[in-house]
Amino acid sequence: MPPLHRALPALRRIRLANNTFQQQSSRLGLQHTSRQAVAYPLAHQIRWQRTASRSEGEGQPTPSEPAPPARSGSKNIKYTSESYPQMQRDSRFKELDKSDVEHFRSILGESSSAIIDGVTQEASNEDLEGYNADWMRKYRGHARLVLKPESTEQVSKILKYCNDNMIAVNPQGGNTGLVGGSVPVFDEVVINLARMSKIRSFDDVSGIFVADAGVILESADSYLAERGYIFPLDLGAKGSCQLGGNVATNAGGLRLLRYGSLHGNILGLEAVLPDGTILDDLSKLRKNNTGYDLKQLFIGGEGTIGIVTALSILCPQRSPAVNVAYFGLQSYEKAQEAFREAKKQLSEILSAFEMMDGQSQNLYARASGAKLPLEEEYPFYCLIETSGSNTDHDSEKLNTFLEHVMGEEIVSDGVVAQDETQVQSLWACREGVSEASQHWGGVYKYDLSIPLPQLYDLVAEARTRFEESGLMSKEDEGKAVLDVVGYGHMGDSNLHLNVACRRYDKAVEKVLEPWVYEWVAERHGSISAEHGLGLAKKEFIGYSRSETMVKLMKQIKNFYDPKGIMNPYKYI
Ligand code: FAD
Ligand code: MLT
Ligand code: ZN
Repeated sequence: MPPLHRALPALRRIRLANNTFQQQSSRLGLQHTSRQAVAYPLAHQIRWQRTASRSEGEGQPTPSEPAPPARSGSKNIKYTSESYPQMQRDSRFKELDKSDVEHFRSILGESSSAIIDGVTQEASNEDLEGYNADWMRKYRGHARLVLKPESTEQVSKILKYCNDNMIAVNPQGGNTGLVGGSVPVFDEVVINLARMSKIRSFDDVSGIFVADAGVILESADSYLAERGYIFPLDLGAKGSCQLGGNVATNAGGLRLLRYGSLHGNILGLEAVLPDGTILDDLSKLRKNNTGYDLKQLFIGGEGTIGIVTALSILCPQRSPAVNVAYFGLQSYEKAQEAFREAKKQLSEILSAFEMMDGQSQNLYARASGAKLPLEEEYPFYCLIETSGSNTDHDSEKLNTFLEHVMGEEIVSDGVVAQDETQVQSLWACREGVSEASQHWGGVYKYDLSIPLPQLYDLVAEARTRFEESGLMSKEDEGKAVLDVVGYGHMGDSNLHLNVACRRYDKAVEKVLEPWVYEWVAERHGSISAEHGLGLAKKEFIGYSRSETMVKLMKQIKNFYDPKGIMNPYKYI
């Protein structure tokens, strides 16, 4: 990373505070070599491990997590069945017995890495908790059996048996989902794809990458980086989430602004239908207009119509010149102006435009112990990334942009990363908000598409509601809510409203729901921009989709999964 601040006159005008910032970077004690991982230890929380950095090449399994990380203290997480007593186990589903487990063993073998058996054996709760409890510590199921197939054929045999015997299943990847879709509600069998972690092929002319669903996103990206390419999706959980989970949630993330959604990038899928049929649509074609594009139903299908076992995806060339800047701004209006200017002046090299409010940055600093990059505090912050192929060209553009936004007082202060460590530290200020939000016990999360001019109004109104409710205090441990923060992918009009809390409390939920959904529907937004529906949004789909569309979705679900064994109690 070139020392831009020395080369560019505009950057000298920004009070870079480089000495302070460099000291901070080393004090942060970054444990991760890529920017995507959150860079501070939180004692009682899941540690989102980076995978070992390199894959072995085609046909070899990439390093994968042996299991979703179980949190210490997960016993304190309330069972979903207790938090939502109105939900009843569907009595049509079979309760597992010894014969079922024996059958699964005949498919998967005896290896302890293939089956975690709490049905016929004494698998400890700890063994099972990492698969039963979700990342937010909000949802917890009662699964007693986890199956970890290592081939598509095994997935097919498992699903066929489950379908024939009315056994409910919960497909699972890295268990980083944020809507309660990744963990069971009752005793559904967890089918975890972690052992399906082979990269199948990569063509360095076309950029087409084919891999198993269990490959961890960061492993895929590292593999591609070595070959000059980039995975067109990036998100904070990249060290744990799997490609299959990304497909199933149609994850958006930090690169969508530049590379578009998975609906456009995925060229083909291999999936297993509930009755065991293998759907081989692992096309490597960019153009294929022969009939309905069925793979699109699995992208964002959240494991309700089948299990994704592999994907083929078009990956772009990795940009050699990357710059990251972090700004302080006086208002949300200024953030909008900065975005307009960034698009105008940085145009094709703009690869991320993220917004964080002051509260979110304070929360991050409090949870992590990190010092924020700027000396003063501001009500709003933006993070801009540029990625291009020509350092001089990019620098010139960035220079002009910075001169303009500083000169016009759109931006009040800012820093530009000078090296990879600083790139990571700046990104940590953005990506660390997720983990910081639930650092004190839990978080109510709303992931919304809202027209840009009104995007931040929701956060301000939510904060007022909590101030008036008497439920919120930064200091008083007796209050359930700590703070209300807003941040997100401003470049995609995608707001994350987080209510950081000390404990989950129905009184807090009542302040937020259905108010948030009504607010968004009135502005023709979406109640789920990128995290999906899962259990959390199931009841609220009507705020974003018409009755006709919900009816069609139910018909699709019934067509693919007539017995309803796939991820029941969720989605629609
Ligand atoms: P899981 O959590 O295991 O599962 C998610 C859903 O997909 C479940 O419904 C599950 O049943 C289903 N599923 C999983 N694997 C398969 C499969 N092979 N076949 C069929 N169904 C399957 N999301 C964003 O969109 N943008 C972000 O920027 C973003 N940042 C995040 C940051 C953090 C710190 C965390 C914890 C999460 C973030 N997420 C983000 C949420 C996001 O949905 C997930 O991180 C990721 O896409 C889920 O992948 P996973 O492998 O963990 O899937
Ligand atoms: C993000 O953008 O950080 C993610 O979507 C996760 C989150 O909101 O917690
Ligand atoms: Zn997001």
